[in-house]
Amino acid sequence: MCGIMGVIGRENAVPKLVNGLQHLSYRGYDAAGVAVYNGNTLDIRKTAGTMDRLRDLLEGQPAEGSIGIGHTRWATHGAPTDCNAHPHTDTDGRIAVVHNGIIENERVLRQRLAAEGITFRSQTDTEVVAHLIAKFNRETCDLRCALRKTVEVITGAYALVVMSVDEPDRLYIARKDSPIVIGLGKDAGYVASDIPALLPYTRDILLLEDGDIACLSQDAVNVTNKDGDEVQRPFRRIDWDQEAADKGEHTSFMEKEMDEQPEAAARLLEAPLVQSKIPSRVTFVACGSAYHASLIGKHYLAELAGIPATAEIASEFRYETPLSLDGQMAIAISQSGETVDTLMALRQAKERGADTAAIVNVQDSSIARVAGAVQWMHAGPEIAVATTKGFTTQVLALLRLALDWGRKNDTLRANEVQEWHGSLKELPRLMREVLVKYGNGGLREGAEECGAVPCFARQNIAPRLVFFLGRGLDTATAMEGALKLKEISYQHATAYPAGELKHGPIALIENDVLVVALATQRELLPKTISNIREVKARGARVLALCQQQDEAALANDADEVWTLPNAPDCLMPLLAVLPLQRLAYEVALLRGCSVDKPRNLAKSVTVE
Ligand code: AGP
Repeated sequence: MCGIMGVIGRENAVPKLVNGLQHLSYRGYDAAGVAVYNGNTLDIRKTAGTMDRLRDLLEGQPAEGSIGIGHTRWATHGAPTDCNAHPHTDTDGRIAVVHNGIIENERVLRQRLAAEGITFRSQTDTEVVAHLIAKFNRETCDLRCALRKTVEVITGAYALVVMSVDEPDRLYIARKDSPIVIGLGKDAGYVASDIPALLPYTRDILLLEDGDIACLSQDAVNVTNKDGDEVQRPFRRIDWDQEAADKGEHTSFMEKEMDEQPEAAARLLEAPLVQSKIPSRVTFVACGSAYHASLIGKHYLAELAGIPATAEIASEFRYETPLSLDGQMAIAISQSGETVDTLMALRQAKERGADTAAIVNVQDSSIARVAGAVQWMHAGPEIAVATTKGFTTQVLALLRLALDWGRKNDTLRANEVQEWHGSLKELPRLMREVLVKYGNGGLREGAEECGAVPCFARQNIAPRLVFFLGRGLDTATAMEGALKLKEISYQHATAYPAGELKHGPIALIENDVLVVALATQRELLPKTISNIREVKARGARVLALCQQQDEAALANDADEVWTLPNAPDCLMPLLAVLPLQRLAYEVALLRGCSVDKPRNLAKSVTVE
């Protein structure tokens, strides 16, 4: 959500601001803007809509200055309009601010400022911050001090970057619970809400702690902590390269990231496994796809390590009765490491007495910093809003953890551990096999033949209803398949444990309903087949996914069967999800949807 870019150097900052914002646009936005100091005043260009509109605006009304800030806005307070776009300024237009996050006491502060005579030009919480900084700056004549006083009165989450005509050689930065990174390049200082924006200019990144205020100049950063004491925050080198954050020859980031899954899995299998004491009980906290991964993790821990676990939706967990979690472990799962609900749930679990750990992709992200121990996902940068390699690496990380704890807990015998070792070694190859079989297959315009997934997508481009069904581990895979379809193709879809169907939803089954039945769990196969028969008998069209060895068992009951390589049931979520991702992708393309940036969604959800 929202992207921030700031530059202070010798050349015109505008091209770098625009380029940085473009790199952040994957986070989701509906307005964009920049402010630069032109040697005299602040020049602001901002507009609702896409980065193209901002570029057009800048072409018609160029702006130039060697220091500037830019922003892509994902609307929270006020509609996505030109005037709600950032940067926002104080009344005199001498101070400009960009902001990620939400100021929770905005209303009270707005009323107070209005009573003091301030006229507001936008509905945003950010404008309140601009006026507060100006007010305190008038009192102290010191911008850092004014920013400090401002963060003392605002509540909520924020990353703020501030510039002023009175101090045109520096940017001030403050953060609490919202990501922000600072970089020093050869000839300029940079600040951004995410690493990809800085990669073209530097790989030496400094991260602020909550409560810090940084002063960034062209060649130095000075940081003070929440008590106002000067502190050293270390720089670290980012090992991602620009190529990893570009889509190369792929038509979209999502396609690239789907294809990268076998190599991401192979990388993770080679990586060290987090070491921690073995918990007697685990609570997972996560959102969206990461929550689906945690449902799978719960099965793995029970089956392989004999450890009871619960999977909690982080936004619900935060507000449940805070019973003690003494002696338990809370594990947060998050690709971005910045999902605010997951972060807060992890913090809360810590307060409730749990040991904490996290499975995270983005290094130095907030969740990674709060967790007592971190298992990295090693997925590389994930840019498409719909997670693909993020999900599969989360699941694989959970499987490895369960196997490790199972070995140490003696719930797995030595020969079983050996067998698992062999199966995991095979996994990247099996994933590649599935991707080849259920990949693109030549769906593009004019193609004479088409692969199984694109053909199926064409025949089922707009079913009235889509149900994803499964049992055991397949239930979580079904949930992930339904979420993928919903979020990128806007096709309504819903997932159910197959056995639950008879308790209500089966009333919806009739002609025109598509059922995607996951039938990869061999022990549960007879039950799943019965459920397939029940929906078939009521007119649904059924696509079934199963292991190769069970194709014949399903051939007479399903309209179409997609087979997956034979492998242990526990590996099936990692294989079955691949064609489901592709199905969502093909339907989205056919419907003309923006696969990488679906409407209303953001890559990292940094507000509640
Ligand atoms: C998945 O495709 C989603 N875009 C979304 O559900 C995502 O998994 C969720 O927001 C959690 O994100 P995180 O892993 O970065 O915490």
